[in-house]
Amino acid sequence: MSGSNIIPWVVGNWKMNPMQADAQQLIQDLKQLLQDAPITEQQCHIGVAPISIALLSVKQSLQNVSPAVKVVAQDVSQMAGTGAYTGEVSAELLKDSQIDYVLVGHSERREIFGDDVTKIKAKISNALNAHLHIIYCVGESLEQREAGQAEQIVLQQICDLAAVVKPEQWHNIVIAYEPIWAIGTGKTASPQDAQAMHAKIREGLTQITTEGQRTAILYGGSVKPENAVELAACPDINGALVGGASLNAESFYKIAQAFAKTE
Ligand code: 13P
Repeated sequence: MSGSNIIPWVVGNWKMNPMQADAQQLIQDLKQLLQDAPITEQQCHIGVAPISIALLSVKQSLQNVSPAVKVVAQDVSQMAGTGAYTGEVSAELLKDSQIDYVLVGHSERREIFGDDVTKIKAKISNALNAHLHIIYCVGESLEQREAGQAEQIVLQQICDLAAVVKPEQWHNIVIAYEPIWAIGTGKTASPQDAQAMHAKIREGLTQITTEGQRTAILYGGSVKPENAVELAACPDINGALVGGASLNAESFYKIAQAFAKTE
């Protein structure tokens, strides 16, 4: 069964970019594009994930944009609440600043910063318990794909998620499938390969939760305006998590247009 009735999400993960002036320019350009040719919330949820110190200024700059552009944190602490945890930002502190969305489990966090399954589960629980929506990232490495383990790895990552999500919290979850070998490399998974994995993820979700057919599953990994239309045509690809191409307002907007449902 396809998930094609799902409203797509297109989220720009700015990663450790850009400088303030460039971020403000990017926002102004995006606002202009959305003003000239709006994309409604029924067509596509649009979000941007700036660095943590820019979350509030970006939110402020976007405050009168209609339809709303969601502001997404790139990470959250494994520690909950407040306390003596130097350098950390908890889910409760994000919520307190009206930041309602967060990425969890991005492969760069897993690979470079040691976010193991225990930490990721704590982050998921804390975020959901603080009533944040999460975009949970999964994906296999090139080595794992070549060893024929891609599906097993990704489904295990879905099981890790399922281990901590309460039944009533599933509606606050979006999944992003990002094969690690496609991130920042210019190599995209073919629409067929991506669709096949998304279908497997949906099958897995459907066995776990009644929300399985309603959960948006985004693709990430070198998404560009040039490949977005083909990816968007796949029934189980419900949007994109965009890195590099989200740093250019026009590219990002075109990707959102490619995924936006026609009304
Ligand atoms: P790129 O679009 O730059 O490949 O990055 C994808 C990504 O990691 C988004 O989270």
